[in-house]
Amino acid sequence: MSTRLPRKSHRTPGVAYAQALLADDRNAISVAGDLRSPEAILTDAGVRRLIDFSQPVAVLLVAVLHFVADADRPREAVRTLVDTLPSGSYLVLTHSTPDEVPDDVTGAMKEVYSGASVQVSPWSSEDIAGSSTGWSLPIQGW
Ligand SMILES: C[S@@+](CC[C@H](N)C(=O)[O-])C[C@H]1O[C@@H](n2cnc3c(N)ncnc32)[C@H](O)[C@@H]1O
Repeated sequence: MSTRLPRKSHRTPGVAYAQALLADDRNAISVAGDLRSPEAILTDAGVRRLIDFSQPVAVLLVAVLHFVADADRPREAVRTLVDTLPSGSYLVLTHSTPDEVPDDVTGAMKEVYSGASVQVSPWSSEDIAGSSTGWSLPIQGW
């Protein structure tokens, strides 16, 4: 089994650093991309060269979706990615959640990000599981 990994980020310095690290790697690349424009990620020439979309693919959205505000349509972005994947593919999605977290902790987290370049938008487990997305995802713990 082999793994080919396109690493997406929308922060140019991080992309450049990862590109330097991966310069000699034939199975991983780093390309600039923004989850708010999923079509651009899917059509990126580097991604297309590395990933065979006729075979099952795993998409890892780890600790990133909560940085996409509702106004930027995160659910539609995930749907666009998922709809492109062939049968047998996997989506790994982690998300900040207020579930089982004291309100003051969630509030403090939002406060930390309030001065950052992106804010954080926690979702409930119902949001993640599908009540607001139309997805049907098994939730595998926290
Ligand atoms: C907490 S880090 C997680 C990074 C990596 N997934 C991990 O688990 O180590 C959040 C990442 O989301 C990226 N990010 C935030 N908003 C994004 C967006 N709209 N599109 C793509 N990446 C984004 C940030 O640049 C940062 O690299």
